[in-house]
Amino acid sequence: MIEEVSNYLNQIRHDFTKAALDEDSVKETPLEQYAAWFEEAVGSQVLDPKAMVVSTVDKEGKPSSRVVYSRGLKKNSILFYTNYLSKKGHDLEANNYACINIFWAELERQVRFEGRVFRVSEEESDAYFRSRPRDSQIGAWASEQSSEIPNREILKERVKLFEAKFENQDVPRPPHWGGYYIEVSRAEFWQGRPARLHDRVVYELDENKWKLTRLAP
Ligand SMILES: Cc1cc2nc3c(=O)[nH]c(=O)nc-3n(C[C@H](O)[C@H](O)[C@H](O)COP(=O)(O)O)c2cc1C
Repeated sequence: MIEEVSNYLNQIRHDFTKAALDEDSVKETPLEQYAAWFEEAVGSQVLDPKAMVVSTVDKEGKPSSRVVYSRGLKKNSILFYTNYLSKKGHDLEANNYACINIFWAELERQVRFEGRVFRVSEEESDAYFRSRPRDSQIGAWASEQSSEIPNREILKERVKLFEAKFENQDVPRPPHWGGYYIEVSRAEFWQGRPARLHDRVVYELDENKWKLTRLAP
């Protein structure tokens, strides 16, 4: 099985032909460019356009990555919500630098962001938590994200426990659950092109101004 897949992996080739990316026509800021590409992703029926891989590094320098949902944009930052006591939460306490990678295969596009990560305000986390469906709110209490559990049953028991606890009342936000925003200081937009001559446009913050460069593919 491994050998067959390995052979297959060696045989498939894909040429990228859908679009081009030019440093003269990109938006002024990386978040504006992301917003423009995001709208195109939605319009092109990309399956899950808000999904993005966030990579963190732990205190021993070991990286790890996972998918989260992009849940908001600000002038220069991008938001996601999670459990502050999760693996990624602990990593970010030790090292608040992270990067994001998004691959929109249908558009032959990749976006990369790097920057420092900060918690969003309690008020902002409360407001977003209130907007979530009740079962997701209960789930945030029931699941001690990234901790080892003996079986699935324990989750169901904890859901019942918190359903009873918050019966006939709004579910408050758990103190260990909330948002992070990545304040982007470097971004790269990648557009696949024929013959592996892809377009790569980089934004870097230089004295509060975005400097644009092009990288070899
Ligand atoms: C499509 C998709 C979206 C996800 N969105 C989130 C999210 O917004 N927040 C979150 O904490 N985990 C989300 N997850 C789960 C994470 O990938 C991960 O399993 C979890 O956050 C624990 O990661 P950690 O142990 O590295 O902290 C999502 C997973 C997938 C596949």
